Amino acid sequence: NTFSSKKEPIRVAVTGAAGNIGYALLFRIASGAMFGPDQPVALNLIEIEPGMKALAGVAMELDDCAFPLVTEIVQTDDLSVGFKDVDWALLVGSVPRKAGMERADLLGINGKVFVGQGKAINDNAKPSVRVLVVGNPCNTNALIAMKSAPDIPNEQFFAMTRLDENRAKTQLAQKAGVPVKEVSQLCVWGNHSPSMYPDFENAKIGRQKVTDVIQDQAWLRDTFVPVVGQRGKAIIDARGASSAASAANAVVDTVRDLSSPSHGEIHSVCVVSRGEYGTPEGIITSLPIRVDGAGQWRVMEGVKLSEYAKEKIAASNKELLEEREVAFGQLGLSIS
Ligand code: LMR
Repeated sequence: NTFSSKKEPIRVAVTGAAGNIGYALLFRIASGAMFGPDQPVALNLIEIEPGMKALAGVAMELDDCAFPLVTEIVQTDDLSVGFKDVDWALLVGSVPRKAGMERADLLGINGKVFVGQGKAINDNAKPSVRVLVVGNPCNTNALIAMKSAPDIPNEQFFAMTRLDENRAKTQLAQKAGVPVKEVSQLCVWGNHSPSMYPDFENAKIGRQKVTDVIQDQAWLRDTFVPVVGQRGKAIIDARGASSAASAANAVVDTVRDLSSPSHGEIHSVCVVSRGEYGTPEGIITSLPIRVDGAGQWRVMEGVKLSEYAKEKIAASNKELLEEREVAFGQLGLSIS
């Protein structure tokens, strides 16, 4: 191996590694899109037993890319092997929803999986491990994993609303007729469900407020907000399968942006609430996140929320409390 980086590899576990999102994700991690072009990575690919044959094929394709950054590929259906010494655990695998289902309908199917994964992370991963849950309902699954991993600080658990943020930015850019990179400071709040609130009132297009560029309030409230909330369903209806490449892209964006200083930009990440902005303490809900120079994330302070925004966010968080009650009841977990 002639690769000259002196950096220690970052070890990344991916569950559902042979699934649709996994297939779109692994090659981007391996190519350096997630951690940068000079950061070696070791991949711990986790599947359930029936997925192991397909996983072997995915690993063969990874081999065939001859990615210079990849130092090792582990293939396993044993969680204690899969999460051994990992720096990041990307919990992608789950049963995805089909047409006609809400993400919360998956609670009973997927919830218990996250108990087992939380425990295995607790017992095997590095104490500094960071866990990003993508499998739905991702907020509540992340909470279940967090509760099942008592030795890992709560601040190291995340769920994904970056896909919603990216969707929202593109909707605004297309409406305004500007390139998507012009849209910034857009936070999606609450649950990754149709109740999520993409906060257009604090978002910017260039240096202007979105509401100064797009003055059609009715479009913002009655078209933009529901289109973002229902975009996952629209993809399922169009593709016959839930989003995969765009979900994988949002995983790359989330991990990359949690791993580097944000220089004033905010991003949407579901984190454990400490009661910020009146959100119920202890749930995993989407908030505006910044990362400081030392790599620590913080909830951005001082966001001004209108009464309309506060109502939307409260409704989404109420849904998260209900999901928690149902899931914890089913799994015998206690809230405190
Ligand atoms: C998405 O938002 O595309 C994913 O959460 C899949 C889904 O069920 O909507």
